[in-house]
Amino acid sequence: TAGHDVIDVRTLGKKGYFTFDPGFLATASCESKITYIDGEQGILLHRGYSIEDLAKHADYLEVCYILLFGERPNVEQYENFKTTVTRHTMVHEQLIHFFQGFRRDSHPMAIMVGVVGALSAFYHDSMDISNERHREIAAYRLISKMPTLAAMSYKYSAGQPFVYPRNDLSYAANFLNMMFSVPTEEYKVSPVVERAMDRIFTLHADHEQNASTSTVRLAGSSGANPFACIAAGIACLWGPAHGGANEACLTMLEEIGSVDRIPEFIERAKDKNDPFRLMGFGHRVYKNYDPRATVMRESCHEVLNELNIDDPLLDVAMELERIALSDPYFKEKKLFPNVDFYSGIVLKAIGIPVSMFTVIFALSRTVGWIAHWKEMMEEETQRIGRPRQLYTGEPHRPFK
Ligand code: ACO
Repeated sequence: TAGHDVIDVRTLGKKGYFTFDPGFLATASCESKITYIDGEQGILLHRGYSIEDLAKHADYLEVCYILLFGERPNVEQYENFKTTVTRHTMVHEQLIHFFQGFRRDSHPMAIMVGVVGALSAFYHDSMDISNERHREIAAYRLISKMPTLAAMSYKYSAGQPFVYPRNDLSYAANFLNMMFSVPTEEYKVSPVVERAMDRIFTLHADHEQNASTSTVRLAGSSGANPFACIAAGIACLWGPAHGGANEACLTMLEEIGSVDRIPEFIERAKDKNDPFRLMGFGHRVYKNYDPRATVMRESCHEVLNELNIDDPLLDVAMELERIALSDPYFKEKKLFPNVDFYSGIVLKAIGIPVSMFTVIFALSRTVGWIAHWKEMMEEETQRIGRPRQLYTGEPHRPFK
């Protein structure tokens, strides 16, 4: 791992040692061949390919293939992959009743945790996780159905009829069509918006052992079925310190409102007595500019230019970034913008409601989660993940 000596502690227990590492600051929980991050240099590679190259030259489905199978697909493999993903986009009609069981004003992430977990009740063959073919079909099902379920969660909250998937559209265009199409008017997906959506999916596709991926692995280590594991990942992603940051970041930019109020918020972020943090800033691994944020920043300008949108929030974001990056507090703590700093502005520009931001993150990350789950299931020796603790409670005492 970049810049660190590795100590394999697996045998230390027998020698009477015990490691204590809350928050996993210096502990690798597994070996993996999928994603590499060098946080000091700001490098992110999927199966060896840089995120910049993937965002520029590949589409999201090719990235999915690379994450799942380790190599770039040839033309035939790509077409077969695309056909299979497209073929699984429908969800069981009975799932509609699950949606209808939720209050209309439910957060779409609350709905997603429920309906993705509920898929376990529909695909009994995917319960047989010892069978490689069944594991692969579960992966296809999840990647294919997430856009359908995500769009349904939005349509339900908007009180509009569900829109069925269209297999003649690309992965991104199909999602946008299910989100924005209404029976009274034809919806035409703009190529700029389609490309921006696809790029957002790509930038969020995987990020090695982050909290939600580790949750998926931990759930999977007990032998839980893939839908239950992904539902656990979605639940973890929801928190504002993780996937909820894109929503929280946009809310923060709106609260700041204008460039002249930035210094006040910078001071609040530095004040240890104030719980406020600059959302979209800082990362456990990156101590340099998040390479995904660089691509997202570019994308943000592209989309706003193409759509002719003059969003004052972009001015606030750029000025906030400029001031923070030159502030000694942020410099010393190596706090840089992360991927979510600009993604909210792009999502807002293409018409996605703020409550759907984290859902879109979950949709994009599903491939990463399932690739890690698959990799773990293919290991020769599997062990249940079982962290230990340092007990700090009462010693044994009499019960009188
Ligand atoms: N604003 C102000 N100060 C910050 C920020 C921030 N956004 N992030 C970290 N710090 C400070 C902390 O107060 C702490 O200071 P201290 O050493 O004086 O106590 C120091 O920097 C280290 O922060 P930790 O919270 O210990 O770092 P950790 O690695 O545990 O947390 C995290 C990383 C959760 C991302 C954090 O930076 C944060 O809360 N950022 C805002 C939320 C966010 O953008 N999350 C998205 C993460 S990326 C993703 O999921 C796609």
